[in-house]
Amino acid sequence: MSSSKEILDRAAKVLIGNYARQPVVMARGAGSDLWDADGKKYLDLFPGFGGAILGHCHPALIEAATAQAGKLWHVGNTYHTEPQIEFAERLNKQAFVGQAFFCHSGLEANEAACKLARLRGQTFSPQRWKIISLSKSFHGRSLAMISATGNPAIGQGFGPEVPGFVHVESGCIDALTKAVDAEVAAVLMEPIQGEGGVNLYPPDYAAAVRRLCDERELTLIFDEVWTGGGRTGRGFGYQHFKSADGGAVEPDIMTLGKAVGGGLPVGVMFAKPETAKLLVPGKHGCTLGGNPICMAVARTIFDVIERDKLLSHAATLGEHAISRLRNDGKIKDKIQEVRGHGLMLGVELKNPPQKLVERGLENGIIINLTAQKVIRLAPALTISAEQWDRGLDALVKVIQSV
Ligand SMILES: Cc1ncc(COP(=O)(O)O)c(C=O)c1O
Repeated sequence: MSSSKEILDRAAKVLIGNYARQPVVMARGAGSDLWDADGKKYLDLFPGFGGAILGHCHPALIEAATAQAGKLWHVGNTYHTEPQIEFAERLNKQAFVGQAFFCHSGLEANEAACKLARLRGQTFSPQRWKIISLSKSFHGRSLAMISATGNPAIGQGFGPEVPGFVHVESGCIDALTKAVDAEVAAVLMEPIQGEGGVNLYPPDYAAAVRRLCDERELTLIFDEVWTGGGRTGRGFGYQHFKSADGGAVEPDIMTLGKAVGGGLPVGVMFAKPETAKLLVPGKHGCTLGGNPICMAVARTIFDVIERDKLLSHAATLGEHAISRLRNDGKIKDKIQEVRGHGLMLGVELKNPPQKLVERGLENGIIINLTAQKVIRLAPALTISAEQWDRGLDALVKVIQSV
């Protein structure tokens, strides 16, 4: 096999430089371990940018993909295939009664959700078409989704904005209420903001948003691209929310990506039937969406999470990390806040660190930095308690060094 240096020289000639890539070539993975092309081993605390929810090369996923690959790869979506139905049935069991549209990515799922919300908006008089989203949100990088995203830097250089997206202050129900006029069709929000810095809302906010959407007949879209699929210690991020009477706070439409494909390209728009029924033939589609291999893997991920009790494992490891990092005297002076749910954690530093990811690599861990000074940890749900502790030890060293 070629050395990292040789591969990097080739990459510089043939790959567009749109990613701030580290000069490291990853060659092999197993669970939470990752090896580069020179044989150096890393503990991956951010596998696949949220995608590899069961870690690298999980045996059950290899088996599911291989079995399906030998049977049927793909047919056009003008025919049925059973893996799509099985995965959609799984979502009904884990989430709410709904119907699925499959695509490849989070942004595509959000595009589909916004189109569906506008279709519903057209059933009102006057017609509604605006979609409200929140400051510090992130919804993807298509032209429409950079307009939906509540971070102007993401859209810079790509103007003019796609019309119809309105931004309000995140977590403030008064600001949201004021922004609802006769043209507003929907509210789009992440249950926990990921790219924006692992931001949680005030405790009653989501229930108040749901109430407002009910009162004003708005479509509520939860972008669960980061939070869905077990990442937060619950099946879906919205399952952390409660209404005043203790009931569930459910969206009308939920979008999924990242974790539900385990690293394969899977996006899902999952909508309550009364909304989903508006998406009739000709209104939307995706040639490779719902690919049987991806669907077989997606369904198996939920099976493994249930079989191995990975939600409670994630919740326990997450609580342990929050308490450990908040109370470690060695880094107390550097840390502003540690927050999150399950294995979606943010460690906000007081100051933006220098070369944090590089220091992580030197110390044998893969971590991520977002919103200038929030270290993100989103390890595989399969990480062991021993690996997690080892990773946190290394993280403490890294934080001390930056
Ligand atoms: C909340 C959220 N929505 C949507 C997206 C876009 O997903 P994708 O990169 O799969 O298009 C992301 C990506 O990070 C995200 O965090």
